This record gives sequence, C-alpha cells and structure tokens, in this order.
Amino acid sequence: MNLEGRTALITGASSGIGRTMALTFAEAGADIIINYIGPARDAEEVADKVRAMGRRALVLETDVSDTEAVAAMVEKAAKEMGHIDILVNNAGITRDGLLLRMKESDWDAVLAINLKGVFNCTKAVLKYMMKQRYGRIISISSVVGVNGNAGQTNYAAAKAGIIGFTKSVAKEAASRGITANAIAPGFVKTNMTAVLPEKTVAAMLAAIPLGRLGETEDIAKAALFLASDAASYITGQVLHVDGGMVM
Ligand SMILES: NC(=O)c1ccc[n+]([C@@H]2O[C@H](COP(=O)([O-])OP(=O)(O)OC[C@H]3O[C@@H](n4cnc5c(N)ncnc54)[C@H](O)[C@@H]3O)[C@@H](O)[C@H]2O)c1
Repeated sequence: MNLEGRTALITGASSGIGRTMALTFAEAGADIIINYIGPARDAEEVADKVRAMGRRALVLETDVSDTEAVAAMVEKAAKEMGHIDILVNNAGITRDGLLLRMKESDWDAVLAINLKGVFNCTKAVLKYMMKQRYGRIISISSVVGVNGNAGQTNYAAAKAGIIGFTKSVAKEAASRGITANAIAPGFVKTNMTAVLPEKTVAAMLAAIPLGRLGETEDIAKAALFLASDAASYITGQVLHVDGGMVM
C-alpha cells in the first residue's frame, strides 16, 4: 500500500502503536509529523528512523488535551510540511479503577486526553483537509469502548465516545473527500498493557480466538490500509483488530 506524497500527523507517536504506525507509514512513502509528550529522545529516535527511509519527519511536543496548543501545533505542521493528508488520533492513557473508588481527577484526565484530544486534533486538522478536499482521519478506539470492562469506566466512555465522534465526522466531511474511521484494537503488547497482572493477561488470552496477543504491527497495518487509497470507499466504520475478541 502506497502513501507516497502524503503527510501523516500521528499523535503519541514516540512509543507503542503510534511509533510502529509512524515507521509503517514512512516505509509506505509518507512524511511523518511525530506528536509526542514526554522524553524527546524517544520521539527523535523515531524521527531518525523515518529520515533514514528518505522521508521527512517533524517532531512536535504537544499535549493533545490542550486546545490552543494543538491548534498552534497543527498550524506549524501545515506550514512546515505544506499539507496534512492523514491524521491518526492515537495518543491515550489509562487511569483504571472500579467506579466506586474512581477519583474525579482520573475520570477527567482520561476523558481530556483520550476524547477531548481527538476533538482538538480532528478539528484543527479538518480545516486544512476541507480546503484541500482530501483527508483520512483514523482514531484509535478499543475493544473496551464496544464491550465495556470492569475497572475502566473512564477509558470505556472515552473510547465509545470516539466511535460516535468518528461516525459524525464521517457524515460531516464526506462530501469533501474526507474519510473518518476508527480502529478498535484488542489486547496489544505495549507499555500500556505491560503493567497488567499476569492473571489478567492470561484471562484476556483465553478470550482471544486467534490465541495470541496483538502486536503493534497488527494495528499499524490496519491503519495503513485505512489511510491508503485502497480504503477510499470506507468511512464511518469501526475496524476491529482484536484476534476475534468481538464478533
Ligand atoms: N495496548 C493495547 O492493548 C491497546 C488496546 C486498545 C487500544 N489502545 C489504544 O492505542 C493507543 C496507543 O496506546 P499504546 O498501547 O501504544 O500505549 P503507549 O502508552 O505506548 O502509547 C500512548 C502514547 O500516547 C502518548 N500520550 C499520552 N498522553 C498524551 C498527551 N496528553 N498528548 C500527547 N501524547 C500523549 C504517550 O506518551 C504514548 O506515547 C491508545 O489510544 C490506547 O488507548 C491500546
């Protein structure tokens, strides 16, 4: 699948699924805007790899939950790269706990980054996509946003919110050649899941018909498909990449 001539903005691209997507998209020919928060070293390492493939890379540290900062980031990215054709809303966090014990701050943090962050980035990029009459918006939801999960009411609400948001954006932007889709990963081996107890991982594994945990490449390849011209007639969909957990 070819992304030559395209520029992709990927949020939370310095680790995990976002990192693999940045490298996969670059390999397919795209220039990459690497949004991140945290250690610059990790983001620069991704940028070096992108450049080694002969693509352009722009590294921008911005908290996706900060509306003004996101607007400034997108303006800077559009100016430096010339255009933004693909947005991947990937940044996300967890603050797990049973509802009765969940702190308001844990609810607010997860909703701010996982859902408002998607609003901030999509709104800022959509302006440019509308003008150029082309765009691909891919947002990373979760199996938890579809099925729910004890201990993750905040995360599930945000991830379910992404699905409703995506379908609405798909309807608003379709006439301008813009598609909006969500990916609902199952259990993927990253920093996010490395903290889970062995017992939880074993229980998850037992619920996966394909009998293995997901790799970041599984999600990146699905995103590459949705970002490519091969998916130009697909919009408003939720692509489940979960080894068959949800059918
Ligand atoms: N790992 C899984 O099993 C799994 C399953 C379903 C969905 N997801 C989703 O996939 C996405 C990527 O997660 P991952 O598993 O690669 O974990 P990860 O922790 O490696 O990646 C999340 C990234 O988001 C970044 N981030 C956090 N807060 C941010 C902010 N305010 N602004 C900008 N960036 C921020 C982090 O720095 C990190 O690079 C998340 O949206 C997550 O909810 C993961």
